Amino acid sequence: MMEKRRRNSEGNIIVGLDVGTTKICAIMGDVNEDGVTVLAVSSHPSNGLRKGVVIDIEATANSIKKAVADIEEKTGTGVREVYVGIAGSHIKSFNSYGAIGIKGKEVTHEDVERAIDSASAVYVPLDREILHVLPTDFILDGQDGIKDPVGMAGVRLEVNVYIVTGAVTSVQNLLKCCERAGLEVIDIVLQPLASAEATLNPYERDMGVALVDIGGGTTDIALYKDEWLRHTAVLGIGGNHFTNDISIGLRVPFPEAERIKKKYGSVSSFAPSQEMNGTNDVDVVAIDGQVRTIPAKYISEILQPRSEELLELIKQEIQAFQGGGIAVSGVILTGGSSLLSGFDRMAEAVLSMPVRIGYPVKAPREDPGYEGRGADIQGLNGEFNSPIYATGVGLVLYGAGSIMPDEKMLSSNVFNRIVAKMTGWFRRIVRK
Ligand SMILES: Nc1ncnc2c1ncn2[C@@H]1O[C@H](COP(=O)(O)OP(=O)(O)OP(=O)(O)O)[C@@H](O)[C@H]1O
Ligand SMILES: [Mg+2]
Repeated sequence: MMEKRRRNSEGNIIVGLDVGTTKICAIMGDVNEDGVTVLAVSSHPSNGLRKGVVIDIEATANSIKKAVADIEEKTGTGVREVYVGIAGSHIKSFNSYGAIGIKGKEVTHEDVERAIDSASAVYVPLDREILHVLPTDFILDGQDGIKDPVGMAGVRLEVNVYIVTGAVTSVQNLLKCCERAGLEVIDIVLQPLASAEATLNPYERDMGVALVDIGGGTTDIALYKDEWLRHTAVLGIGGNHFTNDISIGLRVPFPEAERIKKKYGSVSSFAPSQEMNGTNDVDVVAIDGQVRTIPAKYISEILQPRSEELLELIKQEIQAFQGGGIAVSGVILTGGSSLLSGFDRMAEAVLSMPVRIGYPVKAPREDPGYEGRGADIQGLNGEFNSPIYATGVGLVLYGAGSIMPDEKMLSSNVFNRIVAKMTGWFRRIVRK
């Protein structure tokens, strides 16, 4: 079982490490009575990943070292153990089922663990390893739809689970990067699961929502219903594609295209009008170093088709899921590319569903649609309360969930409680 790490008398220190395609971000949180207080956030450009997967161990380890050294310096606290996020198209998931007999009079945590263990005793190809075994439904003596059977009376416990697996090589490479940076990985967490932890509130998970994390390299989708993660998918389009389109379309170097996108980029017909009309002409530095003045609408003309393409793919993924009879009532966009001006409104139009941007805590915007998860997170201010840091914050919350006593569970859902109990089991599998 996971050790509790008491770093100071008041609480426990948790470090989340988001190894992303564009940035590596380390977040240190202090878990206390009231929830999580973020002590420091640091972010360094990432050069060793492509589409969410490590392709250069040395470069990645170096960025990790820098990000970690930075929070160590800011907080004066040494970091040894981290919760790290994993993503990429190598992630594959499937459903499974397990059943056990209850020995005592009522269901205990151990029974739940045994039921999940039995559901995870499935054939997994040698080149894959299990990252998560997430219950989607408990059935006690034939009664289904039970969210948390602990404490209930019964003789036979069945469980449906959603098993998330990753390619052994990708998992090992990520672990190697952390090891080279002098870190020990307590747990590997599917990135969209972490992002969901930071941005979704329990009602949304219950009603059914799609969390869409649009990063630099990929777009990760996680579909929730009845509190549980039910489906995940990875789309091979992210912010870098938008930047590339601008780079090619305007013949400017990639970094200049990135600047233009962030500063002037919008999907114009959906963007708030002042953002578009305020800048009719834009100066850009072309590949030959010459400054050219272009109409801002060129930029949105470039961004529009890519946005449509991405939203169509997201729509297909949600529809395929709904085809299975599960309704989704809204979409939460997160990740850096969700900040593209007008993209959220365009998503609403294309997906015909309410869409909001997921911030780790309530956004500084007086728009009720822009609420954060409503979690007990303190100390996350200014630029760091951004969809860019949703995964990092989620990793800290995930870690917090596994050391907090049950009754203090932050997200008050069973997910963490059960996953927490599985940490030891997880380690056996990963550390072969
Ligand atoms: N204001 C903005 N407008 C448009 N795009 C933005 C804005 N701010 C950031 N981005 C884009 O967000 C992307 C980075 O997002 P994020 O930090 O979530 O990605 P990542 O976690 O590094 O990548 P991934 O999750 O795909 O591995 C970049 O492509 C960046 O250009
Ligand atoms: Mg990311």
